[in-house]
Amino acid sequence: MHSLLTLALLILSWPGSHRNASSQMSDDNDADIYLTSPELIAKYGYPVQRHSVQTQEGYILELHRIPHGRPETTASPRPAVLLHHAFLCSSFDWVVLGPDKSLGFILADAGYDVWLANARGNTYSRKHVSLNPSDPKFWQYSWHEMGTHDVPAEIDHILAMTGQKKLYYIGHSMGTTMFFVMMSQRPEYNEKIYAMLAFAPVAFFTPSKNPVIHFVQTMAEMFLEKLFKVIGLNEFLPQDGVLNPISIAACKASVFTNSLCVGFIFSIVGKSTQLDRERLVVMLAHTPAGGSSREVIHYAQGALSGEFCQFDFGTEKNMELYGQPSPPRYNMSHVTTPVAMFHSDNDKLAPIYNVNKVFSALSNVIGNFRVPLKTFNHLDFMWGKDANSLVYEDVVNIMKRYEDDA
Ligand SMILES: *[C@@H]1O[C@H](CO)[C@@H](O)[C@H](O)[C@H]1NC(C)=O
Ligand SMILES: *[C@@H]1O[C@H](CO)[C@@H](O)[C@H](O)[C@H]1NC(C)=O
Repeated sequence: MHSLLTLALLILSWPGSHRNASSQMSDDNDADIYLTSPELIAKYGYPVQRHSVQTQEGYILELHRIPHGRPETTASPRPAVLLHHAFLCSSFDWVVLGPDKSLGFILADAGYDVWLANARGNTYSRKHVSLNPSDPKFWQYSWHEMGTHDVPAEIDHILAMTGQKKLYYIGHSMGTTMFFVMMSQRPEYNEKIYAMLAFAPVAFFTPSKNPVIHFVQTMAEMFLEKLFKVIGLNEFLPQDGVLNPISIAACKASVFTNSLCVGFIFSIVGKSTQLDRERLVVMLAHTPAGGSSREVIHYAQGALSGEFCQFDFGTEKNMELYGQPSPPRYNMSHVTTPVAMFHSDNDKLAPIYNVNKVFSALSNVIGNFRVPLKTFNHLDFMWGKDANSLVYEDVVNIMKRYEDDA
């Protein structure tokens, strides 16, 4: 969603805007642009491991593990927690701000065995047993397949590696959608989760009753379908390799273009007082991290129908696949794991009326917490400089409640 960024950044970084003021950004930021998630974790002095998980559909996903925090010298058994990022993000977003600010490190220091997922198609998960990302077939999936096949494979891998029976799950935005899909399709996985913590949960949308807005939404979906037919319904915002040179150039070039970057992000996700503007260049160097066009269309279908359903392929193919003309709904009553929800007033992508629909559909909600800062936005759940005191401290406290189970 916040990927529209790249389009704008492309314009911003047009020759001419490359003025030289890079000296204003710290050396540390310059160096971190070129690090991978494991390299950044190691740089901060934490232990780190890379794990490969092969899914039922042949995708090879990379998990990044921080087995323990800084104070410990050995990895004594401790509960595992799986963190799943938002659309077009990666494991990097959970560590980008370093210890005491980023959730990956905070959880490791709080005594957890931290596993950072990478959704298929992102920077770290572009391998497949037989398909290449340049092959359109590689991209024929949405968060339906990721929730049904990939998250269960990650959970099974973690439980096998740790010898434990359960883990905690933390999802942000699409990371929550995938969790709800998983439980709807494979409810036996409820048994493997102590509790789920949902940042900016996304499942239902409220279609607008305003006929003008409804018309615009319909047009937008038709346009998306047409556009994606032309570009091949493959990768959304194709990207070669780890870095995003356009964003780096645009957000680094000068104080002026940096302000434009910030302004553009705010126009999509809402203004925030939480963004570290100097660190932005490092964040954007790793974002967008890759995803499929079908993920966007699947969300657009939900926005139009107001339902949380499987992918709509059109009547004919729906009949063939589902045995009914319209796609089946996900059954939220299959989610029996305790869920703690976190939302914020200034979140344009997970507004309160949609979050409340998720709340009503779930049967085992521990709490529906509102972040106590009016300007907190969608991205601040991973990038907010005070996310620790506003959100993460509560997260750790909630997790501790399940410690006796663990
Ligand atoms: C750009 O800034 C750097 C760091 O201050 C400086 O060393 C370099 O000479 C500048 N380049 C130009 C073309 O002004
Ligand atoms: C959803 O699942 C519950 C059981 O978990 C079942 O009672 C209910 O009928 C299902 N709803 C639909 C629409 O399939």
